[in-house]
Amino acid sequence: MTNEAYKKEIIRLKEQYNVTIVAHFYQKDEVFEMADISGDSLQLAQMAMSDTNPYLVFCGVGFMGESVKILSPQKRVLMPKIACCAMARMIDGEHYDMNVSILENAGINKADILPITYINSSAEVKAKVGEMGGMVCTSSNAKKIIEKGLKSGKKILFVPDKCLGQNIAIMMGLKSCVVGDGTDPKESDIICYNGFCSVHQLFELEDVEFYRNRYPDIKIISHPECKPEVCQASDFVGSTSQIIKYIKDLPIDQKVAVGTEFNLVNRLRKKNTYVLSSTKPECPTMNETTLEDLYNTLKSIEDNTITNEIQVDPHVAKWAKIALDRMLEL
Ligand code: 13P
Ligand code: SF4
Repeated sequence: MTNEAYKKEIIRLKEQYNVTIVAHFYQKDEVFEMADISGDSLQLAQMAMSDTNPYLVFCGVGFMGESVKILSPQKRVLMPKIACCAMARMIDGEHYDMNVSILENAGINKADILPITYINSSAEVKAKVGEMGGMVCTSSNAKKIIEKGLKSGKKILFVPDKCLGQNIAIMMGLKSCVVGDGTDPKESDIICYNGFCSVHQLFELEDVEFYRNRYPDIKIISHPECKPEVCQASDFVGSTSQIIKYIKDLPIDQKVAVGTEFNLVNRLRKKNTYVLSSTKPECPTMNETTLEDLYNTLKSIEDNTITNEIQVDPHVAKWAKIALDRMLEL
């Protein structure tokens, strides 16, 4: 089938079976164009919750579909590909417990730790965090959530993205460390798990220098999953939706170089917009979803052969929801 034929069928099926298609900004263009709801991870969780259709087909990575199912258990959430974000895969419940034990062995009582997990984590990790009194954050509200967490007077254990944790600490003038980096965690306000995004790690300080030398008045923009030295050398740091807004508000002839996933950067104002790397980093897991997968998922509703439906263990869902709700209350 051609792309045009897939698109026609996708529109027919979603209208006939009351399906809402949701897509993250990093999806391939042809998949992204089919979405009824698109946004960054916070916007997707919020908008999907208030949607009234019984079926939600989520084009993104596993933790996103899982979060929507946890927040709206009555919905049938299907994913054309249950692709696992590389960062979310870096931590499971066992790793989480091990990190808490390392902090206890370093002389920090469990009761004095407030865990915060980036939404890029499994439901299992979110549940562990919820059970310990902690909450979830996304890249657009991480500073606000950490500020709230610090009011408890406890140390923040931030999982899994060390870069996001370190970048917020720098922004707030706080001390941070990474578990196992040889420093005393008792000296830090934010203790980060040693996880990272394999895509955003590809942006280097030399890339910033390259663009600044070539175009002295260029604006450098980065996602907070980039390394701290890249974020510190940037003119603006923000989540995907914040980056889009920042670029939209700039004069049309302003040159920008953006340190985030290539599908998004390529879709932004193309003229004068560069991706902050000599390679064009696409997120491999976000890119797994094709138009054909999306069609097959919708067709499985028509044929009553549904596959890739998201299910979450009820105990895990209960505590993960508590951690997500603590974020949404803000
Ligand atoms: P956003 O919250 O900016 O959508 O980020 C999600 C993500 O996975 C970025 O790599
Ligand atoms: Fe995960 Fe990185 Fe892909 Fe975002 S870009 S989904 S953090 S692997």
